[in-house]
Amino acid sequence: ARITLRQLLDHAAEHTYGVPAFNINNMEQGLAIMEAARACDAPVILQASRGARSYANDIMLAKMMEALEQMYPDIPLCIHQDHGNNVATCLSAIQHGFTSVMMDGSLTEDAKTPADYAYNVAITAEVSRLAHMVGASVEGELGCLGSLETGHGEAEDGHGFEGALDRSQLLTDPEEAARFVAETEVDALAVAIGTSHGAYKFSRKPTGEVLAMDVIEKIHHRLPDTHIVMHGSSSVPQEWQDVFNAHGGEMRETYGVPVEEIVRGIRFGVRKVNIDTDLRLAAAAAFRRVADTSRSEFDPRKFLKPAMDAMSAVCKARFEAFGTAGNA
Ligand code: G3H
Ligand code: 13P
Ligand code: ZN
Repeated sequence: ARITLRQLLDHAAEHTYGVPAFNINNMEQGLAIMEAARACDAPVILQASRGARSYANDIMLAKMMEALEQMYPDIPLCIHQDHGNNVATCLSAIQHGFTSVMMDGSLTEDAKTPADYAYNVAITAEVSRLAHMVGASVEGELGCLGSLETGHGEAEDGHGFEGALDRSQLLTDPEEAARFVAETEVDALAVAIGTSHGAYKFSRKPTGEVLAMDVIEKIHHRLPDTHIVMHGSSSVPQEWQDVFNAHGGEMRETYGVPVEEIVRGIRFGVRKVNIDTDLRLAAAAAFRRVADTSRSEFDPRKFLKPAMDAMSAVCKARFEAFGTAGNA
């Protein structure tokens, strides 16, 4: 059944677990995630980026979500807009059946530069007002995602800013967070703690210097009832990097967010954990392996089924680690 982010995260807070929010663009991702959820008896957040909506088409995505809901009637399902950049994106998502939207006002509408606080509050509060009228939930973001190692906003996955940001722009300020939540009435707050999107987050296993879990603790202390969201939370598993590289892939040495750090965050109010890269990597590695080892194969299903199994395995591991399992 379809539920809102607020309903799901309130339950998660009450029972101290976290929920992975997996990005979805196509049928195989949808089936892989739902199959893992059924196996683990876990509630699900499926999220679509603006890119996903234009790749798959809104109608295709909406009907696919409907099909998944029908196929897995016992799994609580939240359908969420990832990184909405304006009011129209958020409202059209709701029109297509999404039960939750992110208004990312930490960036300007073109997502190329950090936005100022006043803009962020104004646009997020507006989305909150409208979405709440029709029963949808809202996630806001305060602080810019990006690397504390390099000082750059975002990672090198095509969305990089020009020029370095100050450390203070890359870390959410707990006092400002309290004001932001009060002024916008968001249901969940995405924070900046040194994570970035994509595979290249850290050049070595991250320490507290570059992955500021202490900031999560401070925000939770200041805002104990606010559901915290971690973006850029892929762990970029070494074993999948190895499969990818063993079969012709070229991924240079890189480290993601260790699962144990996310688990620590869940003790301090992290309730939604955004994961896209890990499923992309597992799927790409699995079909590279088929392409490399079964060179005469040309039935796409023979590539896509192993890719689905690989994605499902990652989903199950996260449902177990985050305590989502058993909570459907
Ligand atoms: O926000 C980043 C997510 O990984 C979505 O990526 O915009 O390429 O669909 P995308
Ligand atoms: P990853 O690139 O770490 O998977 O992050 C995804 C994300 O934050 C989507 O909003
Ligand atoms: Zn994100």
